Amino acid sequence: MTITTTRHHALFFGEVEGVDLARPMTDTLFAEIEAAFHEHAILLFRGQRVTDAQHVAFSEWFGPVFTATKYSWKDEKRRLRDDMADISNLDHDGGLLPTDDPRRDHARGNQLWHTDNTFKHVPSRCSVLAAHTIPATGGNTQFADMRAAYDALSEAKKEEIDGLILEHCITYSRERMGFTGFTDAARAELPPVRQVLVRENPATGRKSLYIAAHAGRVIGWPDKEGRALIDELIAFATQPQFVHEHVWRDGDLIVWDNRCTMHRVTPFNEMQDVRDLRRVTVSDEINSVERAGLVAAE
Ligand SMILES: [Fe+2]
Repeated sequence: MTITTTRHHALFFGEVEGVDLARPMTDTLFAEIEAAFHEHAILLFRGQRVTDAQHVAFSEWFGPVFTATKYSWKDEKRRLRDDMADISNLDHDGGLLPTDDPRRDHARGNQLWHTDNTFKHVPSRCSVLAAHTIPATGGNTQFADMRAAYDALSEAKKEEIDGLILEHCITYSRERMGFTGFTDAARAELPPVRQVLVRENPATGRKSLYIAAHAGRVIGWPDKEGRALIDELIAFATQPQFVHEHVWRDGDLIVWDNRCTMHRVTPFNEMQDVRDLRRVTVSDEINSVERAGLVAAE
């Protein structure tokens, strides 16, 4: 065994030591990392000084990497390469975004509990986020273990939600935060998609809730009841016993399993402090409803 892993939380979130991600990966080492990933759902690597290319190369060991989502209302000029999502308050030239820039409003949607890319037909397996510049205070990331949350549901609730399918759309989470910048063209680019509510990790057989602020409807249910169930489950799954808050340090790199965790950022002084994090998002293999062999009822 090359790596050691220490949990920061009773349920999940392991810190991995003994790995320099700037060095070439090997099959043996990655097998250890992947086993730890399945066990802890989230892995922290500290003191990493990876280039963007090394960051992407490490992420590719987990699966194919998404091209970052492009929104037609956003500035066409990007600060980062096309396969990196820019999790910062910076413009393409590295200066702070103007105070009235719609990208600031859009980014505030990340303060809601979510998991990345559930609003895409083939969602994300995991995200790999590297910290380059951290604000003086705030801007922490809270994570919730959706495996433990599922396990803690009553048998009656498990039975009630078994087989349900949710509709996810980026506009649901942004509209919850009051963001109204989506044009018709932008809405057409990312139409609603369907994902299962309970999913199973094929590698471990462990079930988890699969919910997010991007979820807006339960298929086959009236809108109001569906929304109430989604809100109820998010509230249940983010109780303190399921949550770990990570305070970032420069050089931290975190891989989280988007299939069985949620996360959100805590507020910071975004008009003054730079927060520069860069995310590579790894794709899953298939839409979760298709994987489960379910058919959505209208
Ligand atoms: Fe996110």
